[in-house]
Amino acid sequence: MTDLPAISFVETDLDALAGAEGKLVILATPDGKLDPAGRRVNRLTKQAVARLMESDRWEKVKPGEGFTVGFPVGLEATSLLVVKLDRRPSVTDARKAGASIAKFKGKTSLTICVGALNRVEDLAMGGALRCYEFTDHKTGEKTAHDAVVIQCSKPAEVDATAAMAVAEGIVFTRDLVNEPANILTTRTFADRMEAMRDLGLEVEVLEEANMAKLGMGALLGVGQGSEAPSKIVVMQWNGGGDEKPLALVGKGVTFDTGGISLKPAGGMEDMTMDMGGAGVVAGVMRALALRKAKANVVGLIGLVENMPDGLAQRPGDVVTSMKGDTIEVINTDAEGRLVLCDVMWYAQERFEPTGMVDLATLTGAIIVSLGHENAGVFSNNDPFCNAFLKAAVAEGEGAWRMPLGQAYDNLLKSQVADMKNVGGRWGGSITAAQFLQRFVKDDTPWIHLDIAGVASVKSDTMLSPKGATGWGVMALDRMVRDGYET
Ligand code: BES
Ligand code: MN
Ligand code: ZN
Repeated sequence: MTDLPAISFVETDLDALAGAEGKLVILATPDGKLDPAGRRVNRLTKQAVARLMESDRWEKVKPGEGFTVGFPVGLEATSLLVVKLDRRPSVTDARKAGASIAKFKGKTSLTICVGALNRVEDLAMGGALRCYEFTDHKTGEKTAHDAVVIQCSKPAEVDATAAMAVAEGIVFTRDLVNEPANILTTRTFADRMEAMRDLGLEVEVLEEANMAKLGMGALLGVGQGSEAPSKIVVMQWNGGGDEKPLALVGKGVTFDTGGISLKPAGGMEDMTMDMGGAGVVAGVMRALALRKAKANVVGLIGLVENMPDGLAQRPGDVVTSMKGDTIEVINTDAEGRLVLCDVMWYAQERFEPTGMVDLATLTGAIIVSLGHENAGVFSNNDPFCNAFLKAAVAEGEGAWRMPLGQAYDNLLKSQVADMKNVGGRWGGSITAAQFLQRFVKDDTPWIHLDIAGVASVKSDTMLSPKGATGWGVMALDRMVRDGYET
């Protein structure tokens, strides 16, 4: 797994500031207040910081962003970053400040002074996340992270364990999503899940024979054209009492060629990320275990590869789901819903969850609707849905609710089976969600997150370089913390 930088917290050393080598970071509040380190730096630089704060340029700096001063007079440091941040910042501004510092960092040593800042943990977390680089398949020398030291006024009161647990969950997700499909197969994916037993998770793997016995014809149909065996991994974190768990279900298509309804060549390589939903479930389970969450959560992921070959399923085939409903497979590229419907049914039959959240890189249509800024949110239960949306806002992860309705469901009618797996050209992410809802029991509060647009992106985001983002780990962890822990 990609390492996170080691971050420690120490008392501010004012007398060492003048001689600090490398780069130096101080904070200034939007209304121009400095902490003792900032004041000392201002004095050493003959009021350079004060003059910066009086300039028009500083006004344009947003909270969490910084302004760089090169070769500052009066300091040994080669550059000084002044980050604009309130003493009591929002979670997202504190993380953004950390990310600004990470981008400023470079190879030399770094002295960070944050004074009496509230949410130092979030600043550290933001920095750790923005340092992420997926270098597993680059040959040549790899640069390990330097240890990062943050100087603050009360280091003994800083506890970054929970924040770093979530950061590790996110990095775990990103690695899974960035990994190519020849490396991350259904087998090696399951292996990485089984390794999490060391963290106290209960992990089981269902093989094809088990799934056949359970009648999971929809999931098995998707994997039958691949040499890679289909698997379901069940991960249980029992940190709560004897209440029923929250269930997280993830689409884990390790590669999606489209099957016999083959995708065009251009951009097909992006389908290495089609296990993104499963990746997020894995990252959340890891975070919960690392921070020993006082809640019961079960994560289930359906691992399959969608390939075309002599045994592959054909358009027009009819499969029978575990629920018993039959499905006419019009398009073998609408495979995610076929995988999820069996895993979701199994999750409800076995665990009777108090709520169920599924995550999937399900449709290109959700990218048409929402671009890369928001995941699509679908739900049959307003309070459950609102709890998630609130958590997503608090964590700065874009999420936008989409509609469901009988008229969309009607589009799934089939001549030969109980339903078709596609609903036609328009509203493609909604008909996909309607398909899933047919496998949700009436009394199960359910949220479907279509993360096709946010799981992996082509340009940097605030907290990640381009590629996998780990979207959803923070919001789901927060939803568990706020709604399920005692
Ligand atoms: N994995 C894709 C959806 C996808 C597209 C994810 C782009 C990430 C980026 C999914 O399996 C798929 O192929 N969906 C089809 C559904 C269609 C055949 C009804 C789509 O969106 O085109
Ligand atoms: Mn597909
Ligand atoms: Zn897919």
